[in-house]
Amino acid sequence: MLAAIVNRSAPLPPGAKLLILGGGFTGQRLAEAARALGAKVLCSRRTNKSKGADFAFDSSTKQPPCDEIFQGTTHLISSIPPATNGEDPVLQILSSQLKNLSLEWVGYLSTTGVYGDCQGNWVSENDYAKPKQLRSKRRLECEKAWQASGLPIQILRLPGIYGPGRSAIDSIQSGKNKMVDKPGQVFSRIHVDDIVGAILHLINLQAKGNNPDIVNISDNLPTSNVEVLQYAAHLLGHDPPPIQSFEDASKHMNPMALSFWQENRRVSNHRLCKELGYSLIHADYKSGLKACLLHNQ
Ligand SMILES: NC(=O)c1ccc[n+]([C@@H]2O[C@H](COP(=O)([O-])OP(=O)(O)OC[C@H]3O[C@@H](n4cnc5c(N)ncnc54)[C@H](OP(=O)(O)O)[C@@H]3O)[C@@H](O)[C@H]2O)c1
Repeated sequence: MLAAIVNRSAPLPPGAKLLILGGGFTGQRLAEAARALGAKVLCSRRTNKSKGADFAFDSSTKQPPCDEIFQGTTHLISSIPPATNGEDPVLQILSSQLKNLSLEWVGYLSTTGVYGDCQGNWVSENDYAKPKQLRSKRRLECEKAWQASGLPIQILRLPGIYGPGRSAIDSIQSGKNKMVDKPGQVFSRIHVDDIVGAILHLINLQAKGNNPDIVNISDNLPTSNVEVLQYAAHLLGHDPPPIQSFEDASKHMNPMALSFWQENRRVSNHRLCKELGYSLIHADYKSGLKACLLHNQ
């Protein structure tokens, strides 16, 4: 619920204007929360016709938005994934506009895929990024490009994002017909409201001079997908779907789906929650799924 974020978050610094490039699942939620806290917010989508679009930005057109959009921006977040050529769409098209702004904080939403396979071990921001998949190698290149941009950048690494309308609750409700079991395999995840809560927390910490380069935003409990789907089925009062072995299921997976199962890691949130003092709204998938169910009702 938006109130859960708003009630615990300090407003953005006085006079702040937040520009959100990429108002998708996370960007929309951030826009709602920041507006509810009284900030001026502008949010892009690739077309003006999409819900929540304050302006259009599509890097494939190579057209920057008009100057007025950028005027007075103090805080900026990019939620736009790498382009198919591997370059960062924002830096590719908007570098000169961004360099002319008096930006106080810039967040780049990246992925914990940059850590590569950790064989089920815990991984933190202090570990060396060793991406295995091409898309994660591209992502690491985009992180480096942001870090070299001269902007006051903070890299936010995210595991699987879930939330209302995009969770195991929806999978079960849509008649998901199997659960894949790969012994020892876990996935880390984060509820979208905690991404937003953490961003607002980090913006306020930055204003106090505490601004680490890279922060993982993940919950406390990496778990198997079977456990998560079983719990979602339990909340809905449904029978859980039958379990299928990874060996069988993998014969029918597309390369993208298969690639997720080739990496196994537990993403540590020690920096965010212990060193930087962020308190999770949804410490684990059980809390997060209950909130998703309430939202759907
Ligand atoms: N989903 C996950 O589980 C996950 C996990 C780790 C990291 N991430 C990354 O974290 C970020 C936020 O994730 P999300 O799931 O909230 O993303 P999302 O819903 O897919 O939103 C991505 C946004 O980027 C915009 N966009 C895409 N290509 C663009 C381009 N070439 N030019 C301009 N805008 C473009 C989209 O425009 P439209 O609004 O017009 O579609 C959308 O607003 C993304 O970078 C994502 O790759 C996601």
